[in-house]
Amino acid sequence: MTVGIDDIAIYIPRLFVDARDFAKARGMDPDKLQRGLGISQMAMVDTNQDPACMAANACLKIMQKNDLSPNEVGRLYVATESSLDESKAMNSYVIGMLEQVYGDDSFGHCGGIECKFACVSGSYALYDNSNWIRAGEAEGKSAIVVVSDIAKYDLGSSGEYTQGAGAVAMLVNDRPRLLEFDPKVTATSIKNEYDFYRPFGKETPIVHGQYSNLLYLLQVKKALMLYKEKALSSGLIKLKAGETILDYIDFLNMHLPYSNMGKKAMAYLLRHEWRKLPRWKKVIEKIGMEEPVPKDPRGTIESVLADSEFMTKDHEFTKKFTKTEEFQEAYDSKLASSLIASQMIGNLYTASLYLGFRSTLEFEFQKGTDLEEKRFGFGSYGSGSSAMVFSGVIKPTYKEIVRDMNLESEIGNRVKLSLEEYEEIHENKRGLKENFLKSKKEFVLVDVKNTPESSGERRYVYNS
Ligand code: CAA
Repeated sequence: MTVGIDDIAIYIPRLFVDARDFAKARGMDPDKLQRGLGISQMAMVDTNQDPACMAANACLKIMQKNDLSPNEVGRLYVATESSLDESKAMNSYVIGMLEQVYGDDSFGHCGGIECKFACVSGSYALYDNSNWIRAGEAEGKSAIVVVSDIAKYDLGSSGEYTQGAGAVAMLVNDRPRLLEFDPKVTATSIKNEYDFYRPFGKETPIVHGQYSNLLYLLQVKKALMLYKEKALSSGLIKLKAGETILDYIDFLNMHLPYSNMGKKAMAYLLRHEWRKLPRWKKVIEKIGMEEPVPKDPRGTIESVLADSEFMTKDHEFTKKFTKTEEFQEAYDSKLASSLIASQMIGNLYTASLYLGFRSTLEFEFQKGTDLEEKRFGFGSYGSGSSAMVFSGVIKPTYKEIVRDMNLESEIGNRVKLSLEEYEEIHENKRGLKENFLKSKKEFVLVDVKNTPESSGERRYVYNS
């Protein structure tokens, strides 16, 4: 049965911090952010916004754009790592907001839960909802999967320059106009890890930055190997001599905690895949050095990171590899367009991968690329940690969705925060009602109760 993404809508808050202002204030070289990590701006939520209202705004957009009535939606899932309650699921707040527009109990029939596994949970939500449709339970109805997050790190930490906020809503059904998922190839990896986590009651995560970068690469590679096995055994992809599975992925979308992580991941996966192929000999000649090996190739992530001689050589090797014509060709054709939105918006945790997908569609369409029948590969990663690799093929009807995409106009007039204003929001020094922007045609948070019997109750309104 055909199942896939029929449409996609985004909600990005209009406030932002400029990377150059940020670097100046923290005494850093702006080039580290812009060239080193690929960050130009980071979207920030206003005092009266939270992940639930961003999710509801993205949902409303996808419903209005498709003239959907609540009866046509059978499942509404929210995937997030910015949970508001230990028990009450975020989709219940979203349903409450949507019912302000569509009427009391209009979504009463609609099931759904909040999903958590750091940044990968949106991919699990998409997969599980696709299987709900494949199982024949949907009876023609669609599922909406929303990914919504505020990426917030401690002031002065190395994660602080990889912040951002936003939501992406995806309409999933058995008649997708955008992308059809490849069946029976979705692959996962999982391991109990502490690379990035947020203990109860803490607003910001505990992060082991370089450890998390390496773990991301290892987990996605592991999932890719399983994807490969499944794609070959199911006959989805048939490899000829000298080919790799990545030759059959026309566009690659990776989880993007910052835009350059996509490039890092692509370099790592290509090295892994090309190493055994005849083409690698030519690449090695161009690089002019052998590929370094850690002192203990079977060691732990800690032992690899502590092997400073290997790390320095490996860094040099990767830099040289990314400058080869072979890498550049793969990068320009498969990955570069997915990174543009992330540079402008920053980290959206669960939503980063899907903002990247949206970015590829919009910017490849603008370049005049014919996307019909092209295979998109997705490399999803969530700290803690799990990865999911899956793929899908673009449908002939994609143009009716993609031609109207315009990131800048969809965000609206962006307003730059001074560093003082940003820090006030970050440290919760401004009250909920001291918002910077007047909202129009969107949901905002208006109250959080603090009496003992109703502590934590949140109220939202739709400003028409
Ligand atoms: N000009 C140009 N480039 C410069 C530069 C300069 N002056 N100074 C440094 N750079 C480059 C460095 O060479 C490096 O690039 P390469 O990796 O390609 O060599 C890049 O800028 C970053 O430099 P560092 O690695 O030294 O940066 P850092 O240690 O300060 O922090 C980070 C980077 C680890 C990602 C940190 O921002 C962090 O901890 N972020 C949060 C955790 C994170 O995002 N982890 C990613 C994987 S986990 C995940 O994906 C889940 C999630 O969403 C959080």
